[in-house]
Amino acid sequence: MIKTSYLSDTAREMKPSGIRKFFDLAAGMEGIVSLGVGEPDFVTPWRYREAAILSMEEGYTSYTANAGLLDLREEIAAYMSRRFQVTYSPENQIIVTVGASQAIDIALRAILNPGEEVIVVEPCFVSYAPLVALAGGKPVSVGTMKESDFKLLPEQLEAAITPKTKAIMICSPNNPTGTQLSKDDLKALAEIAIKHDVLVISDEIYAELVYDDAYTSFAAIEGMYERTILISGFSKGFAMTGWRLGFVCANKEISEAMLKIHQYAIMCAPTSAQYAALEALRYGAGYVEEMRMSYNHRRNYIVSSFNEIGLKCHTPGGAFYAFPSIESTGMSSEEFAEKLLIEEKVAVVPGNVFGIGGEGHIRCSYATSIDQLREALTRIERFLNNHS
Ligand SMILES: Cc1ncc(COP(=O)(O)O)c(C=O)c1O
Repeated sequence: MIKTSYLSDTAREMKPSGIRKFFDLAAGMEGIVSLGVGEPDFVTPWRYREAAILSMEEGYTSYTANAGLLDLREEIAAYMSRRFQVTYSPENQIIVTVGASQAIDIALRAILNPGEEVIVVEPCFVSYAPLVALAGGKPVSVGTMKESDFKLLPEQLEAAITPKTKAIMICSPNNPTGTQLSKDDLKALAEIAIKHDVLVISDEIYAELVYDDAYTSFAAIEGMYERTILISGFSKGFAMTGWRLGFVCANKEISEAMLKIHQYAIMCAPTSAQYAALEALRYGAGYVEEMRMSYNHRRNYIVSSFNEIGLKCHTPGGAFYAFPSIESTGMSSEEFAEKLLIEEKVAVVPGNVFGIGGEGHIRCSYATSIDQLREALTRIERFLNNHS
């Protein structure tokens, strides 16, 4: 008989994702309008799919170089320089990964010694804190506030830094708030990172999806290039979630360390997906722009509609999420999301699952058709009337 658990303490203590719980609740329900899923509603453009098919027809079915196809790394380098004014060597500063998810994982594992702290700016993507813990580090949550448009304030950052702080995990535009940090915001945070000699892991997966202001990469801020680990990928802007392809760029020393971990854990990212991504970078700018304009249209619709029905909603600068406040209803975000799902069959994600600062809000993805958004808004308005 087995008397003890075989699980590691880290695995045992890790909580399942709060998002999953809501998907499980919604699964099997009929007539659901879902604003829950954080992925594009566009199918990957045919041109990229065809490139992957062709690669298979031509027999490119073996491993690629560990860091990814050199052609692809060269295209990534050209793209990063063209779009974001940051220069990385395809030879030793870019690694093609299994989604941005794996990029975050190898970044953390490459830099953390046991017990070192990573400041996690919340509300944020649900994987950051668990991945810090898995890498042996200690996540230190810092909550942003709706009063400051969910922007991390320099004084908040400085107050959270201790002698054990190794890095700050930050995401702009953000999931779930949609907040985009301006160049000045980034400069102010950079000053503190430089002063205290900490790294920044900058999740720039939504960089293509900004609607009001030009995008600035953290790595392009003066003094930040060497201390930024830049995470990006194809899932969001290129509508390629299922292909599982991302990339990470960093200085040579960190890149070499990440590549060792990647070699042992993964070997290389999927080959056919790399060929699709190559096509996306060479010929995809028009598709990206078309999708961005469509999201922008939906963003404007959903944000003004929430404000009209009495749920205060700040205007998100990027990504494809609205994050309205539900505080006026007196319900917690879990209670609101659960009741809305049961009574009106609208799936949203309660803000509290994204960490400090998320309570009192719901995350609504607007990567769904305008008709679905209209239907969701009608149901949410009825729900509010029934509970007023
Ligand atoms: C902020 C953020 N980072 C990373 C990811 C993971 O992306 P990928 O599909 O490339 O692993 C997501 C997915 O939702 C995200 O929202």
